[in-house]
Amino acid sequence: MLVAGGLLGLGILIYGVVDFFFLKSSFTASGPLSSNHAKFEKDCASCHEPFGEVTSVKCSVCHEKTGDQLGAYTFASHYVYRSGEKQRLKTAGHDFAAKETACAVCHLEHQGREAQVTQVPDSYCTQCHAYGSFNKNHPQFQFASQKLTDDSTLAFTHIKHVKEVVKREKLTDIERACLYCHNPQPDGKHFAAIDFDTHCQACHLTGTIGTPALKIKTADAILEPGVETLETIRNRRDPGTQWAFNTNPNEFQLKPGNRLVKAPVHHEDPWVLENLRTIRGALYPNAGFSELLKTRGETASPNRPVAATGVYYEAIQTLQDYAAGLRGRPEPEVQRELVKIDSLLKAARHKLQRQPGLNGDAKLLWPPAKVNPNLSAEQISGLHDLVMSLTEPCRECHTVEQAAIGRVQKDQQILRRAEFNHRAHIVQRRCLECHTEIPLQAAIAGKTALKIEQDRAAIQNIPGIENCRACHNANETSNRCVTCHYFHPNKTNRSNLLLYLD
Ligand code: HEC
Ligand code: HEC
Ligand code: HEC
Ligand code: HEC
Ligand code: HEC
Ligand code: HEC
Ligand code: HEC
Ligand code: HEC
Ligand code: HEC
Ligand code: HEC
Repeated sequence: MLVAGGLLGLGILIYGVVDFFFLKSSFTASGPLSSNHAKFEKDCASCHEPFGEVTSVKCSVCHEKTGDQLGAYTFASHYVYRSGEKQRLKTAGHDFAAKETACAVCHLEHQGREAQVTQVPDSYCTQCHAYGSFNKNHPQFQFASQKLTDDSTLAFTHIKHVKEVVKREKLTDIERACLYCHNPQPDGKHFAAIDFDTHCQACHLTGTIGTPALKIKTADAILEPGVETLETIRNRRDPGTQWAFNTNPNEFQLKPGNRLVKAPVHHEDPWVLENLRTIRGALYPNAGFSELLKTRGETASPNRPVAATGVYYEAIQTLQDYAAGLRGRPEPEVQRELVKIDSLLKAARHKLQRQPGLNGDAKLLWPPAKVNPNLSAEQISGLHDLVMSLTEPCRECHTVEQAAIGRVQKDQQILRRAEFNHRAHIVQRRCLECHTEIPLQAAIAGKTALKIEQDRAAIQNIPGIENCRACHNANETSNRCVTCHYFHPNKTNRSNLLLYLD
């Protein structure tokens, strides 16, 4: 009996194995694969191990972008998500490496060609995020519950400007005014970054505004506070100063007491920026790559770290511009400078190539470590005062710290943990039916008096969860988690992951 039973069992096993691996038409193999994978349907081994099991390693052969080592589809990436709050998560005791979930748990297969393998049901998410559903216990959005402020370094108020634009453009509809500054991106999801030339130029720095009278630096006192004249900069012929030969000398007026006034001042005025850079160099020597940036390397808020890659690209661009202006010149000192620039360029490019290592380098960029120890307290405060006068026309809009213009967050995107798409909504709702946190409409009509801090977006003017629930509920529009969230969030360029994955 035992032998017969054993033989029968073995026979069934052999049949199963032969059928499964050689005939490829198993009674167990249920249904065709999704259309994504149809091409290699017959090649079971691309997903299955020799004993039938599906492992994530198999999926990753095709789905990890080879070589970048980002682990875009790993669970660790999900933990960090796009908000990149690794520090918070670490303090909360999360272990990034643990709890890796197999791909096949969420991405089922053999459900037919039409199957949508990415439409993961809520139950997979609510295993860990115990919200029940979007309409039950989903928390209020963080920016709304914690009343997070707009952490931009730009000073700007909406009410005055919407009124000004309505007047200037002779508009009848105030929502048309929004589009003067907020131009939809081609895909309609978000709005293009604010651009001074397109959105502010018409009314600001239009040609009458200049600097106050500034003390001119004397040649023998290098660390004495003072600005360099156009003449001095032209004579220096340093890399990156070619603009000086295209600048009209009439924009500089000499004043009594060895002073000068620069008028008019232009946006990103190269003379202002060059003097700012020189002063920065005197205050903070050895500032590394931040030397090469037009603004501070970091944003005002830790919620919005600048992707280090972007900063490196800017530094590389500056170096390339420097080098381009020098290549044709035979002088030996210029050639020596070029060698220096080329080796810096090589270093910056090398850093970019091994992206995951950028983590700590972001800090290298800014803030600079120490104030120059050779300066007296008096010299330091003198230099800071000079910075403030030099940037007076700029400070209507910009913050200036450590002798640098604050980096402007040009794209206004606020959500870091969820997706949004304007195109899907503007047919049904008007701008000011969603952006109601700051009651612009009432304020423009003169019905509410808004404090200036409120208008300066001391609260984010982005709708809270009640607004979304009005439509995203069981009866109307999809309220599934995957409507608004990625599970693998670092696929897009907005990812800050580079800064946070070790
Ligand atoms: C694109 C990858 C992929 C390919 C190719 C593939 N499978 Fe699968 N298969 C899966 C996944 C994913 C599962 C679900 C695994 C789980 O539930 O743990 C699965 C499950 C199965 C099961 C378990 C029964 C079930 O439906 O849950 C069998 C049997 C099977 N596959 C047979 C085959 C055979 C035979 C082939 C080749 C003709 C094949 N598979 C090719 C991904 C694949
Ligand atoms: C032989 C290469 C290969 C293997 C192995 C493979 N895939 Fe794919 N996968 C593809 C290709 C090709 C596509 C379609 C193009 C694309 O979207 O990148 C795809 C698409 C997908 C999609 C996207 C569907 C969509 O709607 O965008 C998912 C999810 C997916 N695969 C999951 C898996 C999982 C899970 C495994 C392991 C069980 C796996 N794949 C194994 C090649 C592979
Ligand atoms: C907890 C569930 C879950 C697990 C585990 C999971 N995924 Fe996904 N995956 C999703 C969801 C949800 C989507 C659709 C939304 C999105 O893009 O994140 C998706 C989308 C995808 C896509 C298509 C879109 C894209 O990013 O290109 C691919 C490919 C993919 N997953 C591969 C994998 C691989 C490979 C693994 C295992 C290493 C894996 N997934 C593990 C839930 C999961
Ligand atoms: C195995 C457990 C697990 C599963 C399954 C899971 N998550 Fe998560 N998720 C986490 C952890 C842990 C974090 C880290 C953040 C935290 O603790 O708040 C996180 C973070 C998030 C965040 C970002 C939160 C933040 O503060 O940055 C979102 C959004 C999110 N998950 C959505 C989803 C969605 C949608 C799914 C289903 C497709 C899903 N999660 C499936 C464990 C999980
Ligand atoms: C003159 C240009 C201009 C006009 C007109 C304008 N905006 Fe803005 N908007 C900006 C600038 C600049 C910012 C960035 C402010 C900052 O970073 O502090 C901004 C930011 C925003 C934000 C981002 C979130 C926030 O609270 O900071 C929203 C939402 C917004 N505007 C909506 C609108 C709407 C709705 C209208 C029409 C009623 C409008 N804007 C009209 C220039 C404008
Ligand atoms: C249609 C003309 C117009 C445009 C376009 C415009 N502004 Fe203004 N802005 C004004 C006027 C008028 C004032 C008031 C000046 C005064 O009170 O002295 C002003 C004042 C300001 C102020 C100081 C006071 C305040 O209300 O915050 C800032 C900062 C400012 N604008 C920033 C910007 C920025 C940034 C842009 C481009 C995104 C911009 N403006 C575009 C007309 C404009
Ligand atoms: C009316 C407001 C306003 C004034 C005044 C102003 N700026 Fe700006 N500035 C902006 C805005 C808005 C941006 C972001 C959009 C852009 O880069 O065009 C910006 C961006 C910048 C940047 C960053 C560019 C980059 O690529 O990151 C620099 C540098 C800068 N400004 C320098 C200056 C200097 C120097 C002055 C004074 C001479 C000045 N700005 C005066 C509004 C202003
Ligand atoms: C259904 C509600 C809704 C409507 C209608 C709406 N918005 Fe938004 N808006 C949002 C949400 C949510 C965000 C946050 C998106 C993000 O940060 O990813 C946002 C962000 C923005 C931003 C800054 C970030 C970005 O996405 O570029 C601007 C500017 C903006 N809205 C302007 C407008 C204007 C102008 C209109 C009218 C044409 C409008 N919004 C209509 C909900 C809405
Ligand atoms: C007026 C009703 C309405 C409101 C309010 C609304 N939605 Fe939607 N939403 C829709 C509809 C309808 C769709 C499907 C549109 C489509 O894809 O054609 C949608 C689609 C979406 C999508 C998927 C877009 C895509 O790329 O396919 C996201 C994400 C989303 N909504 C987020 C939100 C958030 C976040 C809020 C709250 C700030 C919100 N919605 C408020 C009606 C609404
Ligand atoms: C209609 C769109 C929408 C749907 C559906 C939705 N969420 Fe969210 N969720 C959001 C928005 C918007 C935020 C705030 C994002 C931010 O602050 O950057 C958020 C935040 C979160 C966070 C972060 C919470 C925190 O405290 O900051 C988690 C985790 C999350 N959602 C998980 C889920 C899960 C799980 C589901 C499905 C049960 C789900 N969401 C359904 C829009 C949505």
